[in-house]
Amino acid sequence: MSTPHRRILVTSALPYANGPIHIGHLVEYVQTDVWSRFQKMRGHECYYVCADDAHGTPIMLRARQEGITPEALIARVAVEHRADFDGFRIGFDNYHSTHSEENRHYATTIYARNRDAGHIAVRTITQAYDPIEQMFLPDRFIKGECPKCGAKDQYGDNCEACGASYSPSELRNPYSVVSGAKPVERASEHYFFKLGDFEEMLKAWTRAGHVQKEVANKLDEWFDAGLQEWDISRDAPYFGFEMPDHPGKYFYVWLDAPIGYMASFRNLCDRTPGLDFDAFWAADSTAELHNFIGKDIVYFHTLFWPAMLHGAGFRTPTAVHVHGFLTVDGAKMSKSRGTFIKARTYLDHLDPEHLRYYFAAKLGPGVDDIDLNLEDFTARVNADLVGKVVNIASRCAGFVNKRFDGRLSDRLAEPALWADFVAAGETIAAHYEARDYARAVREIMALADRANQYIDEKKPWVLAKRPDADAELHAVCSMGINLYRALIGYLRPVLPGTAARSEAFLRIPPLTWEAIATPLLDHAIGPFEPLLTRVDPTQVQAMLDASKEDLAKRDGGTPAAAVPGPLASDPVSPTVAIEDFAKVDLRVARIVAAQAVEGAEKLLQLTLDLGGESRTVFAGIKSAYAPADLEGRLTVMVANLAPRKMRFGTSEGMVLAAGPGGKDIFLLAPDAGAQPGMRVK
Ligand code: 2FM
Ligand code: ZN
Repeated sequence: MSTPHRRILVTSALPYANGPIHIGHLVEYVQTDVWSRFQKMRGHECYYVCADDAHGTPIMLRARQEGITPEALIARVAVEHRADFDGFRIGFDNYHSTHSEENRHYATTIYARNRDAGHIAVRTITQAYDPIEQMFLPDRFIKGECPKCGAKDQYGDNCEACGASYSPSELRNPYSVVSGAKPVERASEHYFFKLGDFEEMLKAWTRAGHVQKEVANKLDEWFDAGLQEWDISRDAPYFGFEMPDHPGKYFYVWLDAPIGYMASFRNLCDRTPGLDFDAFWAADSTAELHNFIGKDIVYFHTLFWPAMLHGAGFRTPTAVHVHGFLTVDGAKMSKSRGTFIKARTYLDHLDPEHLRYYFAAKLGPGVDDIDLNLEDFTARVNADLVGKVVNIASRCAGFVNKRFDGRLSDRLAEPALWADFVAAGETIAAHYEARDYARAVREIMALADRANQYIDEKKPWVLAKRPDADAELHAVCSMGINLYRALIGYLRPVLPGTAARSEAFLRIPPLTWEAIATPLLDHAIGPFEPLLTRVDPTQVQAMLDASKEDLAKRDGGTPAAAVPGPLASDPVSPTVAIEDFAKVDLRVARIVAAQAVEGAEKLLQLTLDLGGESRTVFAGIKSAYAPADLEGRLTVMVANLAPRKMRFGTSEGMVLAAGPGGKDIFLLAPDAGAQPGMRVK
């Protein structure tokens, strides 16, 4: 059955370029990939694009912590992300980065057009500022004591101990997570997107069926609460795009993140003859734009994103599809239980097709969370995919190959059964289209049950022993192979790897939805090869164990907190001018006392003698040194480092050490003859 030709652009949310892909992320990439593969099988012109979300304070600070440039960090993470997505057969047509010229162009264009249309306001606001690092602090970089219950080390927005929410200015004894310093209030000019200008447009858009019902309800609450102006600028230092008309101000990461969808598509157009960017993005575009996202970023995608597109004269999304979160064994993913599973760790132990199938079997069109129950995962994948689906092919292929030279019969044994399989195709397609993969999978498994019943009734293994039943054996096994072909065709969006192996075994071109309806008759198939293996429960356990080990490695291996520079794991730092280096006052110091710090895993508190002057320094060297080994030793310290207020006290300098971390941290030790207080020249 043919469907009208559609042009469809599909996106998944862009993962941040400072951390690995984990199985929680994969719910969305699998959901989107299934949908895009399905559209392609239907013969539509569909493009699935994504990118790394490369800007913002956390990425800037992460790079600094590793002693590398943000560019080096995002380049490394991009390679890891791509490998993980490839491993899970996420079939992007393009994967780009928000730190790209295309994105700079569209971010700047969208901003400038909105500004010229009067949708940008400027105001001076005061914010928390770290006087040591000389930077403004986003809320999550401020910690302190909860104003309600007094719990220590709570984030600036809410308390994990008592659940209270508040603003960072209410925290008691606040400190900067970056330097430990007490934040001060400081004023600066910020630029705001006037979301309220778009209220009517957004209400109409919301009510025109572009979002799910649950999301529309949430939006109504936000409309009732009133649309606030959105702060789209950040002060230096910031890793992002500098505002064209305000040097020293940068676009907030969330301004240019969704524009990354456009940038990635532009990059694809530039490499694809005949693919026209404007046909997909102009205000009057007849192409479809589908953004798949998680429920935590609905505000950005259903208010800011359509509004800024509209304000700049671009089209708005056809649909924003929201999904829920992933739980594992009924609970939030947990590092200590080993259920915080990275994509790579999964791939080291299990087949990506298994997880793709399980997620598909659980995903409905709504925003509910889905649970990966590991026992159910094992049982279901083995029962459905191996026991029901692949089994049909393995039961029939051997006879066709051995007895009939690999050739299928020239007619179908059960036209009525075949007609049912073909008719089910439209129902299954409707479920995929509506993102109700759970129902699509249920339909397909009901068909698989019927195929197995058919084979059980016909008993080819009995027919094979009867000399007079050759023709029937041939007909039954050929029918079975055709039923298998239809099933794997319907499952193809979910199981691209198994489908590709099946296509090779069946010696057919990649299946389209339309092609499924025409059976394979008088056609030579190849030798049967295993199409899919079972989930081995010991591998599931090994994956959980490896996830726990990962955690142990990470904790022991991070650079010591009090000496971030010299202990960085990847010392590709920018060069430092000799005049700058000369500002560092290096002195020989004697470690008079060393002791562990309660509540700090990595720190030792050192009392240093600088030739009469005493200093307290907190050094992240506990993993390599016992306090007793240090007392009495000479070392070298930075004597003019600005004091840092830390949770445990103030650190009045820094001792110098080198090494990758863990046990391998080596404190600088001057030769005998050096005296405390000597300047190092
Ligand atoms: O929440 C996140 O992980 C963001 N990096 C998603 C960005 S989606 C899009 F807007 F770029
Ligand atoms: Zn509290």
